[in-house]
Amino acid sequence: MEEIRIIREPAVLSEEYMPASLSGREEQIHQLNLRLAPALKHRKPVNIWLYGNPGTGKTAVARWALQRLRRESPIQSVYINWWKHNSLYLVADEIVKELRIMFADKTEAALKLERFERSIGNKPFVIVLDEIDKPAPKERNAILYNLARIGSVGLVAICNSRYFLMNVDPRVLSRVALRQIAFEPYSAEELVGMVEQRAREALVSGSWDQETLGRIASLSDGDARVAIQTLNNAAELAESDRSRVILAQHVESGFTSARELEQRYLLQSLTEHHRAIFELIKGSGSEGMLSNTLWQGYLRHCSDIGKRPVASRTFSAYVATLISVGLIESERADMRGNIRLLRVKKEG
Ligand SMILES: Nc1ncnc2c1ncn2[C@@H]1O[C@H](COP(=O)(O)OP(=O)(O)OP(=O)(O)O)[C@@H](O)[C@H]1O
Ligand SMILES: [Mg+2]
Repeated sequence: MEEIRIIREPAVLSEEYMPASLSGREEQIHQLNLRLAPALKHRKPVNIWLYGNPGTGKTAVARWALQRLRRESPIQSVYINWWKHNSLYLVADEIVKELRIMFADKTEAALKLERFERSIGNKPFVIVLDEIDKPAPKERNAILYNLARIGSVGLVAICNSRYFLMNVDPRVLSRVALRQIAFEPYSAEELVGMVEQRAREALVSGSWDQETLGRIASLSDGDARVAIQTLNNAAELAESDRSRVILAQHVESGFTSARELEQRYLLQSLTEHHRAIFELIKGSGSEGMLSNTLWQGYLRHCSDIGKRPVASRTFSAYVATLISVGLIESERADMRGNIRLLRVKKEG
């Protein structure tokens, strides 16, 4: 039987692929370049905080800006994803490894950072800290505090929630003084443009049309990752159905698995406490659960499995993270808004 091929260039649909342009993010790129500009004049770059929902292009824009900086100037930089390096020790380790100024060994974080500081001297240096809202607050405060202290370092911190800074230790905040750049969800038109660009580069012509793109964009709810993943899944499903064109049903099921993947990816990047809280809320089904009941349930869960619960302030921050990344939704359940009703966010 003849094989049906729709995907010509699979790499173009992967998460790592850097598109030739990031449409709809011109303003954010401009702002970021503006803040990094002092580095070109050998001054300390301004600390920046990029925030927005999943799939709004924060990582792509930051990587884009670093690439440009590396190409056009001698300024050094590192990109650190907090998910992989979730303690001060691991971050320090990654920095010295990247700069090749020290072997990765058991030396403590403070020593590594000292070496780093000495090695860069007064030359500007940019550190991108991606997904900084994911690890435990204590480690996060330690790393922000210790890196912002270094004279010539400019930080680009990336997170989901605009309220994230409220959970950062005020002493750290006074030192870090971050400027903010917001990433709003993409409009349906922007998403259409984006998936069209990918479809042109990755798929066989004639296998998709404007209607397919429009459907993907409207399902994806402002999330570029979901949109691109949906296109990829739909094309794969069409291939396995031996269809030469992507049909509505391929888009539908492609979208469902893209969203499931995004949820799994998000949960994986969070702590076990986030996952436990999410599971408790999920267990309450469509009725949802009141925030005070959730706290009691969480304490019981921790005592059942013999884990120490996080403090109530941290617990609230974790719930806020689950809301901001779109895993759960909340509504007011009393007059003052102290108690909230929480439930798993519905599809689409
Ligand atoms: N303007 C754009 N043009 C083309 N592709 C884009 C654009 N914005 C995002 N993408 C693509 O969408 C995917 C998700 O984007 P990105 O990883 O930057 O999202 P994010 O805001 O960092 O999300 P998260 O908060 O989940 O980390 C990536 O594959 C990226 O290349
Ligand atoms: Mg990201």
